[in-house]
Order: sequence, then structure tokens, then C-alpha cells
Amino acid sequence: MSNSLLSEFKTRFKAALVRAFGEEFAEYDPAVMAAKDLRFGDYQCNAALGLAKQLKRKPRDIATEIVAHLQIDDIGEPASIDGPGFINVRLKTSYLETQLTTIQPDDRLGITKLDRPERIIVDFSSPNIAKEMHVGHLRSTIIGDCIARILEFQGHDVLRLNHVGDWGTQFGMLITYLKTAYPDALNQADVLALGDLVEFYKAAKKKFDEDPEFKETARQAVVGLQSGDEEARLAWKLLCEQSRREFQKIYDALDIKLQERGESFYNSLLPDVVQDLTQAGLVEENDGALCVFLEGFTNKAGDPLPLIVQKSNGGYNYATTDLAALRYRINQDQVDRIIYVTDAGQSDHFAQVFQVANRAGWLPESVKITHVPFGLVLGEDGKKLKTRSGETVKLKELLQEAIARANADLDARDPDYDADYQKEVATTIGLDAVKYADLAQNRTSNYAFSYDKMLALQGNTAPYLLYAYVRVRGISRKGDIDFEQFNHASEQTEPRSIQLTEATEINLAKHLVQLAETIEAVADELMPNRLCQYLFELSQKFNQFYDQCPVLQGSEQERFSRLSLCNITAKTLKLGLNLLGLKVLERM
Ligand code: ARG
Repeated sequence: MSNSLLSEFKTRFKAALVRAFGEEFAEYDPAVMAAKDLRFGDYQCNAALGLAKQLKRKPRDIATEIVAHLQIDDIGEPASIDGPGFINVRLKTSYLETQLTTIQPDDRLGITKLDRPERIIVDFSSPNIAKEMHVGHLRSTIIGDCIARILEFQGHDVLRLNHVGDWGTQFGMLITYLKTAYPDALNQADVLALGDLVEFYKAAKKKFDEDPEFKETARQAVVGLQSGDEEARLAWKLLCEQSRREFQKIYDALDIKLQERGESFYNSLLPDVVQDLTQAGLVEENDGALCVFLEGFTNKAGDPLPLIVQKSNGGYNYATTDLAALRYRINQDQVDRIIYVTDAGQSDHFAQVFQVANRAGWLPESVKITHVPFGLVLGEDGKKLKTRSGETVKLKELLQEAIARANADLDARDPDYDADYQKEVATTIGLDAVKYADLAQNRTSNYAFSYDKMLALQGNTAPYLLYAYVRVRGISRKGDIDFEQFNHASEQTEPRSIQLTEATEINLAKHLVQLAETIEAVADELMPNRLCQYLFELSQKFNQFYDQCPVLQGSEQERFSRLSLCNITAKTLKLGLNLLGLKVLERM
């Protein structure tokens, strides 16, 4: 049986369709979904309505026929038909009881790894050398990491790639500036402190724009770098290393694992890209540059848009590098799937790269390529996020601020922590809050960054969920039952299986068994906010249950069942939050 109840019901309905109407319906989508309105049931199948025309029968008759062939008595109550022909099913309480009893000791909560894992590249974070990582990269980092965690949990073989912007004409200016402003830099063996690389970049840019002689030297430096000039290479390496150290601090703070494979990695493959595209008959010359004219993209005049793959000066572009990377990943890495996480502003770029690769015949049908776009992070005024002085916000400072504010909140509540523990709590709350506020949004929309909102103790926030976890853990600890032991013990006289009677208990149980399908949905749609919503609802359902059902005072059986519900809720919260990339605390 599938881990995901939703998938299981789809399978059962499909089988019923085939039994009722024949093999030709084996691939028909039975339109099964989790019910929105729980008064009618837990899952709904709308196939009867979709089939009416094809079968030339009334939806209600079709529904009756499907139900007659539906085999679900191990998981569901007998199905009911409502309205014009909706089929509703309700989960069986006995199923919930057995299922929860079984998954309780398991850290994966009964969710097994996929039988056929894929090799998947998640291309995320990908900041640019000598430029500060900005909030756009923060979004990519947080969303990309979450997607990677979910896919890894499912058992996929995930390669987390950092496509760092470490190549391009801007290095001419940076190298030249390095040589003029820090003449000794290249002779020093040990780590060189260039100071703030963003300031460095700005100063270099200023010089470049103002000084024609500098500009010419910079141009030559690019040529030098490309042709392997030793000094230019060394300068480039220094700049990359310095940036890398800065990036790493952020990754360490956020607990992000990434493998760097920057743009420069593909340098030697670029000529082949252009050559093979030419051979495929896709390349045309346009104003001295080599281009592929895109289908479905036009300029303002309505003419087909050219994608430049080699500039008139012989240089290559961001897109050429992505074409090389795509080919490398397919041929060398042998991936089944590639996921690119960047802001929505790059949607055209990826659509164009994918189109060219496709027309060149480089995309096997079995390989799935997806761009996962996300919206902007705005300031609370709804405009671009800026510091008070109008600068772009630095990531490091943004994270520090979140931690500082979390710490101030703790101070105000005056908990009895020692200093070290308070630091740990504040750091966890601060960083979790930033991550969660991002992930809880539908990623395609813009969102307003607000420390107050993300740190609020109430609502769909990290602090709310962190406290919920601590509270639930506390209750389940009070019961002093060793659950792991409980299920394994052979001579138990006390109750050892969960029994559910109250409505709030059953509601909570139903939500608990839907973790698998939630994870499945996040993996399919690449929408982390689905998991956030699930966890938020879980803590609400837990509260309703806890309000209504005494946990410690009931009979032995009630005590066991309800403490088990607490235990499974805590485990689910922890697993879910970890999959989002959040840390939990045991005590707050
Ligand atoms: N460095 C790019 C940027 O900062 C993002 C790279 C995304 N990945 C890729 N394969 N193009 O916008």
C-alpha cells in the first residue's frame, strides 16, 4: 500500500473504474482529492462528473457504478454519493488506530523511501563572486534547501549545486582594481583581507566608469584571464576565495549544505556548445554575434528574439554557460531531473535555455527540467527591501537583526535560561523565523519582509510552531511512557494500541496520517508552503484535541491513546520542521 493515502485512494478509484467500465479507463485520472469540507468525508472523487459525456450516462448512475466496484473497506467507510455525483469517503477509525499504532515508533513516521529513486540536481543559492549575497539569494537558498531536503527524505539521490557566478567580464575590472589598490595582494601567500567585497566592487566599478585608461586595462585583464595569464588567474582566485569565505558563513549559520560548481567550471565546454548548435543548424549571425533565434519570444518590433550564444568579441554569455551546464548534467551526471531555483525574473532566461537545448536535441524525454521561480522580498512599505539609508540589505546583517530581536523578545519575557542557552534559543528562533516566513508564502508571490510578523508568537510563524513543539513534547513526556519500548514489549498487560473515540481525537489522527501525502504534494509541486500550512493546521488540531480531551486523567486506555497522539504530533512537528530546514528546541 502506498504511504500516501491520497495516492492510495487514487489507485483504488482507478481500479474501480477499470472494473466498472473496462481496461480503457486504466489511465483515466479519477480526480480524487482531499475533501475541502470535512462534513461530507475526507476524500472526494469527481470522476463521475467528468465521465458523463463520454459514457453518455447520468453522473449519479456512473457514481453508483463506481461505488459498487470500489474496494476500500480496509481504509474507508462505505462511500456515499452526494450532489450531482460526488463520491465521498471517510477514513475508518479502526484504520487510523492501527496505522498510528504502527508508525508511532518510527522516526520517519511510516513513510518509506521510494522504490525508484531518481538522481536529481537542485541548482540553488548561486550568488555572484564579489557581490554580496542579497535577499534574492536568501530566498533561493532557503527554498532550494527545503526542496532538496524533501527529495532526499523521499530517498532521491540529490546533488545540491551552487552555480556561483564566478566568471564574466566584470572580473577584468575587479582584477585591475585589486592590482592597483592592493599592489601586494598577489605576493602574499596567506589570506588577504580585502575588507568588504561589496565596497571593493563598488570602488572598482566607480574607477571603471570614470577612468578610460583603467577601463582599457580592465579589458585586457579579461583577455588575460581567459587566455590563462597567471597573474590574472591568481587575482581571480583570490577574489573567489574571499567571497567563498563570506558565503560560507551564511551557509553555516543557516545549516545549508551545497557543492560549488560555478560558471567557470564549464569554460572549456563553451566552444563545443556553440559548435554543436551550429552543426544542428540553429545558429545565425546577427550584428557579428552568434545567435539562436527563439521561438515564441519577440522583441518590441515583433521580430523573433535572438539569444546570443557567442558575442562578437568571442566571449560567451550566462545562457551559453547554462547550456553547457545542462548538457554536462545530463551526460556526465546522468540526472533524471534538474530543478533550478531562482527569482521569477529569470523565467525567460530558463525558458530560452530549455528551448534551445530542446531544439538541439540535448534533452532526452526521460529527463525532467524545471525552473522553480519565486517572487521578490519587499520592505514593509511594499517597495524594494532597502536599509534605512537606502542600501540593499546585506544578508548577514538581516540574519543578525532577526536573532537580536528574538533575543530582545526573550529578555522581555525574562526566562530562566543561562546566557548560553538563551543565545541558542534566540539564534534558533531568529533564523527559523526568517526561513519560515519565506517558506510559508506561496513562493510565486512577492512578500513583505517584517521582523515583527515573523517573530510573532501567534499565527503561522516559526515561534508559534517551536513553542507548540515544546509544549506537546512536554505533555507527552509527563506521561512517562516509553513509546518505543511500548510497541516492542512482548509481555504487556497495559493497553498497547491506540483507540480513538472523541471527534477532536479523530480529527487530529486524520491530520497525522496525511503527512505522507503532504510531503508527496510538496515534492510534486515544489511548494514548501504546503508543508507549512500542514504543520500550522496540525498544531491547531492538536490544541482543539487538548482542549477537549483530558490526557493524563483518563482511563489507562485513554491515557495511552492520548499520550500516543501527543507523541506522534511532536514527532510529526519535528520531522516537518526539519524538512523545512528549521531546527527545533526541546525546551524554551
Ligand atoms: N548567479 C545567478 C544570479 O545571481 C543565479 C544562477 C542560477 N543558476 C543557474 N544555473 N543559472 O542571478
